[in-house]
Amino acid sequence: MAQEVRGVIAPGKDEPVRIETIVVPDPGPGEAVVRVQACGVCHTDLHYKQGGINDDFPFLLGHEAAGVVESVGDDVTDVAPGDFVILNWRAVCGTCRACLRGRPWYCFDTHNAKQKMTLTDGTELSPALGIGAFAEKTLVAAGQCTKVDPAVAPQVAGLLGCGVMAGIGAAINTGNVGRGDSVAVIGCGGVGDAAIAGSRLAGAAKIIAVDIDDRKLETARSMGATHTVNSRTDDPVEAIRDLTGGNGADVVIEAVGRPETYKQAFYARDLAGTVVLVGVPTPDMKIELPLPDVFGRGGSLKSSWYGDCLPSRDFPMLIDLHLQGRLDLGAFVTETIALDEVEKAFERMHRGDVLRSVVVL
Ligand code: APR
Ligand code: ZN
Ligand code: ZN
Repeated sequence: MAQEVRGVIAPGKDEPVRIETIVVPDPGPGEAVVRVQACGVCHTDLHYKQGGINDDFPFLLGHEAAGVVESVGDDVTDVAPGDFVILNWRAVCGTCRACLRGRPWYCFDTHNAKQKMTLTDGTELSPALGIGAFAEKTLVAAGQCTKVDPAVAPQVAGLLGCGVMAGIGAAINTGNVGRGDSVAVIGCGGVGDAAIAGSRLAGAAKIIAVDIDDRKLETARSMGATHTVNSRTDDPVEAIRDLTGGNGADVVIEAVGRPETYKQAFYARDLAGTVVLVGVPTPDMKIELPLPDVFGRGGSLKSSWYGDCLPSRDFPMLIDLHLQGRLDLGAFVTETIALDEVEKAFERMHRGDVLRSVVVL
């Protein structure tokens, strides 16, 4: 039997979100219905609401979530009712060229539920990133459910579903930060701070945090930054070079998504270093680099999408590290809120007041 639950809908471009009754069908083949316990508020939800991703309104927002599997389709064997899971937006296919070449984090054909959730009048909903978890229950592909140790609090677990995984993964997967490395992180919001925490976890010796806001730099220190640079008052490229014996950092992680910070990242790396771009540019952004500057350097320039993560490999590992006290995922939760406070949370996010607001259900 299809069920009716409450969910947060973005009805149209730039319109305020509102709570609506949504209809969640029974899971079909390859699908699962999840009772959502917590869901973080991410920039991408705001971009959906602003029409910056596509025009498939109405959206069911929310995609950074944890909860308990309620029911599964007949053929589903990987997860079962009662399992505590983090939802992911990378359920890999296993058969595309990227998967076959051993790089499933580039999978071309990630799975979402085939059936649609709807409003009570039958209008089909577009779930954010194929998840839609600002709702009491949601329908996803079973492969979007990753089982983790249920000892972790849901509001902490959910964060791995997007932003925190993107940051930690940028350091440990894309940047391949290793023991003794010097790392610079430009932009210390939730994603940059997670890159700092990931770099500490990976054994980086020097972690240089760069931001334009002293409050952010203070938090970055508590996440593991060993040095901080305010790029409003100091040239970040010079400062990073000074702090690394004139060389530049082994790994530079850009977590802002602006042309000037992309450029800073390029020039702040060691000649053989790696630049990791995590900040998402807008479609019209460009940077110009003199070709001799590109040619004259080794190393690599990489982009990182969802931290190049494999949910089935990375989520349980990071939750275990958190439960062992070796990674403080709880530090990313600024506040917990109710389902009807998402609009306010967007405003606070816009002002830069929070790392993460998390809806708890
Ligand atoms: N130089 C350095 N830091 C900057 C600059 C700048 N020119 N402009 C902004 N910042 C800082 C802000 O002060 C803030 O601390 O960058 C940080 C951005 O953080 P958030 O807005 O909280 O964004 P976050 O969620 O961390 O995401 C960062 O990664 O995944 C992408 O889409 C995401 O592009 C976004 C980026
Ligand atoms: Zn694939
Ligand atoms: Zn997100």
